[in-house]
Amino acid sequence: MPPPRPTRILLGVSGGIAAYKAAELIRLLRAEGVELRVVMTAAAQAFITPLSLQALAGGEVRCDLLDPRAEAGMDHIELARWAELVLVVPATADLMARLAAGLADDLLTTLILATTAPVVLAPAMNHRMWRHPATQHNAALLAARGVRLLGPAEGDQACGESGPGRLLEPAEILARILRRPQGPLAGRRALVTAGPTREPIDPVRYLSNRSSGRMGYAVAAALAGRGSRVVLVSGPTALGPPAGVERIAVETALEMQAAVLERVATCDLFVGAAAVADYRVADPAPEKLKKGAAELGLRLVRNPDILGEVAALARPPFTLGFAAETERLEEHARAKLAAKGVDMIAANRVGGETGGFEREENALLVLWRGGRRVLPLCPKPLLAESLVDLLEERFGAQAASQDP
Ligand code: PMT
Repeated sequence: MPPPRPTRILLGVSGGIAAYKAAELIRLLRAEGVELRVVMTAAAQAFITPLSLQALAGGEVRCDLLDPRAEAGMDHIELARWAELVLVVPATADLMARLAAGLADDLLTTLILATTAPVVLAPAMNHRMWRHPATQHNAALLAARGVRLLGPAEGDQACGESGPGRLLEPAEILARILRRPQGPLAGRRALVTAGPTREPIDPVRYLSNRSSGRMGYAVAAALAGRGSRVVLVSGPTALGPPAGVERIAVETALEMQAAVLERVATCDLFVGAAAVADYRVADPAPEKLKKGAAELGLRLVRNPDILGEVAALARPPFTLGFAAETERLEEHARAKLAAKGVDMIAANRVGGETGGFEREENALLVLWRGGRRVLPLCPKPLLAESLVDLLEERFGAQAASQDP
């Protein structure tokens, strides 16, 4: 279920030209009846004064960690506890780097380390700073820790250049944090698979692959953000479950198949992002295999094709499969789209220098009957948002065409 609407928001403002837009956001949040506490970094005060934000927020604006007078009132730990949501607008490249490193070198970063409330960042910076691998790495790291990123948007920038790095408009930020999602995916049931499967050889060894689960977890989180009720069937990963998502942990392809088939009948949407082993060991040894002969053969048998089975149901949900390819990406992905009978397929290159398995970033070529779209390389959480935008379009179009 989507998280409840926050009534107490701690608004952080860091130092970029877009800091002036925090004033408009404060006005909009107060008009919604939200109680606000505002914290500014030193750099933010070069762009807008604490006095301006204080007048709009209707309360003191905090700027210093080591301020005995302010700490005698609500100290920073109390402030961190008070917040139901921490929202940083704008979040600069520097702030994101400090958060990713876990620094607590000013009041805002200290509060973010100390809070248990959800943290939402609205990044804004020059497009080259946003695209820099260091910023992309920090964005992916923060997203993997559960921080939600809103934007940035693409377009003309204050520096006279154009590209991704604009702050989302305050009204859009407000809508994303306060309004219940209304799109075609809101209230729908989604089943997502993610991660690798492990196919036992003996009680201590297994066959598996390089999937980290990041891509599938990011899709599950993005769907939950659109108001879908998401169940994530996950192979073994090091990731925590995304907020608002029910996770079912499995190990083998057969376990994943059983977990999916048990739930799929009531689902509107199925996303197969898991890297399911195509084969399993026919007869796993009951005891640890001993080293002996110079060669050892394993007899493998085919695993079920979970995605294919879901798409072949009499009343299938809308199905989005993935295709992991090392060569001839589009050709192989088109063949899988047809062979598995799915509604959409998201193809990614694996085994290269960028994207695919294990990495924090990825790029996708999405195909459906009569259409294709390229989603360029970016951190998996942002890529998942673009993929779910597309899913919303295609799923919405199909649902509209089926309405009596
Ligand atoms: O987890 P990450 O490290 O973030 O990496 C992401 C990813 C590369 C794993 C992901 O983006 C991806 O491509 N997932 C699908 C991997 C895969 O198994 O691709 P495939 O081309 O072999 O399979 C095609 C589709 O059939 C997939 O949707 C797969 O889930 C499904 N399948 C495959 C085999 C099988 N036995 N059952 C299936 O359901």
